Amino acid sequence: MKRIFTSETVSKIDETVKVAGWINARRDMGKVKFFDLRDKDGLLQVVVAPGDVEAEFEAISEDIRPEWVVEFEGVVKARGAKQINDKLATGTVELLAKKISVLNKAKTPPFELDKDTSGIGEDNRLKYRYLDLRSERMAKNIRARHAVFQEMRKLLGNQGFIEVETPVLTKGTPEGAREYLVPARLHPGKFYVLPQAPQQFKQLLMTAGIERYYQMAKCFRDEDQRGDRQPEFTQMDFEMSFVEEQDVMAVIEEMMIKVVETLYPEKKIQQVPFPRITYKEAMEKYGVDRPDLRKDKNDPNELAFCWVVDFPFFEKDEAGNWTFTHNPFSASKPEFHQDVLEKKNIENIIAAQYDIVLNGFEIGGGSIRNHQPEALKAVLEIIGFNEEQIQNQFGHMLEAFEFGAPPHGGLALGMDRIMAILQNEPNIREVMAFPKDGNARDLMMDVPSELPAKALKEANIKLDV
Ligand code: AMO
Repeated sequence: MKRIFTSETVSKIDETVKVAGWINARRDMGKVKFFDLRDKDGLLQVVVAPGDVEAEFEAISEDIRPEWVVEFEGVVKARGAKQINDKLATGTVELLAKKISVLNKAKTPPFELDKDTSGIGEDNRLKYRYLDLRSERMAKNIRARHAVFQEMRKLLGNQGFIEVETPVLTKGTPEGAREYLVPARLHPGKFYVLPQAPQQFKQLLMTAGIERYYQMAKCFRDEDQRGDRQPEFTQMDFEMSFVEEQDVMAVIEEMMIKVVETLYPEKKIQQVPFPRITYKEAMEKYGVDRPDLRKDKNDPNELAFCWVVDFPFFEKDEAGNWTFTHNPFSASKPEFHQDVLEKKNIENIIAAQYDIVLNGFEIGGGSIRNHQPEALKAVLEIIGFNEEQIQNQFGHMLEAFEFGAPPHGGLALGMDRIMAILQNEPNIREVMAFPKDGNARDLMMDVPSELPAKALKEANIKLDV
């Protein structure tokens, strides 16, 4: 007999079926035993009663403990009106077991999985992440993440965007964080760098004539950890050609509204179209560039999006030199193009840069780019790069732009932050299957870890620790 999912039992009353999964809980009522069986879809109550279960299986049911992997064959029965459990998707039925087969035993888990695990010490949860993910809340978060990704892919696909994968072994791209380095065995003394974002590749894809690109992209940043930061995280990265700021913002705004309406109908977006606030206004009025505009911060269903626009292009770093506020690829607003080219009025230049903010978190950022090589070069010169540095780090971009790069712009959404907010979770680790801990360690895989001498030698690495 083919195994069915627990969710399918509701339409199979009085039929004999086979289900399999994990024992979520067991309750003994005298000689009758009740098991909550858990599979990917949820729970099903299984009743093992003497007389119903075939004699040879009765003893097995004595041994079965939570988290054992068990298969039951039996008849689906409608529950009496009083026995209906509204909290379960299968609450109108139960399975009267005839045959039982233990597919695998389980040790007693280090924490209870039939309860919300948010109160359990996080080290334990991360070490046994595969168990934590069995708990209802965590399983829901992972499935909700999939649903949002699918919905975004569908909406973008419908508008002619295509998903293109870009390399992970590449060259650094400045996004303001430290980078993870990968030694190149075949080129002693040389390194690949893991991308902080696919920024350069997406601009090269525009140069390649793709016009509408997106990617659910893994990004890597070696920065201090916080509740909304991980060393590797996921962006919905996208880029379009022949557009202006409002075109890019419209695609994202429409997409976010549709995602919420389709998948989170219980949530309310406070204001549509999303309000636009200039950086200056945000700083003056709220003291931050990611204001939380919710009216009731205790309402889990309130979503207050806003755009923050008109960022200063440059700011002074600690040493008093000019640096970019976001990344060097942004264009200035058209009225400042000439200032950029002439490298004057630097403190007043406004970038064609926009951030999207949700409930006080920066969930995305983007800009219209400099598609003309002389403008990109001028920006790099303003931030103090000499000709050699420009050629070494960005020569390939300048060269590409000399072959007819179209005007283009885009944005990247921080998917982990979006999912944490939509799922009402306090930090992004709760919506990632295998996050790192606060010290950037993976406690389950035990990384970072030391390498055998042979591996270091092959990678031409001598340790200096
Ligand atoms: P930016 O650096 O603003 O822009 O990144 C875009 C969004 O990614 C999310 N984010 C993070 N999420 C989790 N952990 C992190 N360490 C982390 N760092 C950033 C944030 C942020 O808004 N290439 C540009 C985008 C563009 O211009 O198109 C970029 O990466 O939600």
